[in-house]
Amino acid sequence: MEVHIGPEDLRAALHDDARLGLTAPDKWLPPVWFYDDRGSKLFDDITRLDEYYPTRAERLLLDVHAAEIADRTQADTLVELGAGTCDKSRILLAALVGAGTLGRYVPLDVSNTTLWEAAGGICRDFPGLQLHAVVGDFHRHLDVLPRGGRRLVAFLGGTIGNLTQRERKRFLFDLDCTMDGDDHLLLGADLVKDPARLVAAYDDAAGVTAEFNRNVLHVLNRELGATFEPERFEHVARWDPESRCIEMRLRAEVSHTVDLADLGLQIAFTAGEELRTEVSAKFTTDQVAAELWEGGFVVEQMWDEPGGDFLLVLARPCC
Ligand code: SAH
Ligand code: AVI
Repeated sequence: MEVHIGPEDLRAALHDDARLGLTAPDKWLPPVWFYDDRGSKLFDDITRLDEYYPTRAERLLLDVHAAEIADRTQADTLVELGAGTCDKSRILLAALVGAGTLGRYVPLDVSNTTLWEAAGGICRDFPGLQLHAVVGDFHRHLDVLPRGGRRLVAFLGGTIGNLTQRERKRFLFDLDCTMDGDDHLLLGADLVKDPARLVAAYDDAAGVTAEFNRNVLHVLNRELGATFEPERFEHVARWDPESRCIEMRLRAEVSHTVDLADLGLQIAFTAGEELRTEVSAKFTTDQVAAELWEGGFVVEQMWDEPGGDFLLVLARPCC
């Protein structure tokens, strides 16, 4: 396992993000801070909720099209960005191993423990496959990923939607710069649909997503000596039709002040004030193709499932 972000780097990055986001007029935090051990487990629970359709929809697409993806890409390396538990990756791994081309799997994730546990399972179930797990940030560490051969770079789950439009532009440009002519990109993107279904997927009846959302406050308390009382914040999931994003927010129920001891900061919340914790953009197929093109990729194939909930795109770098 190759570690590009240790605990000290993580803490330093969290310091910077918390200082920037919590002192802004419209308070915000980047979603990467959800994913400590507890947050990663909560996300895994989310993927099994009735309301949360994206994981099921994408798995269905992979089940149906993995053999074709293996055939088209002939990949000898599968790189996966934000791999998490590597659950759906197994479908691609099996197809590429079955096609006889795959030699190496390179999952990258910011969450060390999740990656370590997932890697153990992959080693057991795919003996003979070279595993090169990378603990890193897909905004900062694309250039450390191994190159050469025919790589399939997968970015699944709709995680591209957790980047703002500006971040997506930058990310696709950076990714394109690290890709060679024989490489492919496999992108999973969630599609625009009935707002009621979207909101339910991010505000489930059992409250798992609410707990996932509040988890970021537990992370701040632990890592920055902060005094957030997570139960004083209400979970908000709102569809913004203009930006075509679900926004997750935490709304302060009462006016109060939070200490962030390690930053020497006091942050005041007025009653009803919201902290934005995540955007989850939903796309049209044309928009995905256009953003890929702008980022230096040309679409080779697109697949959506009968429900039209989710899109898988296979693309290549333009030149
Ligand atoms: N790909 C999996 C997991 C999606 S959850 C799936 O489709 O189910 C998002 C994953 O991305 C989490 O495992 C989280 O730890 C990781 N992640 C979030 N931001 C990241 C970043 N900036 N760099 C690397 N990994 C990140
Ligand atoms: C990881 N990512 C694609 C999830 C999403 O749907 O935006 C994270 C998530 N947030 C709330 N529920 C799930």
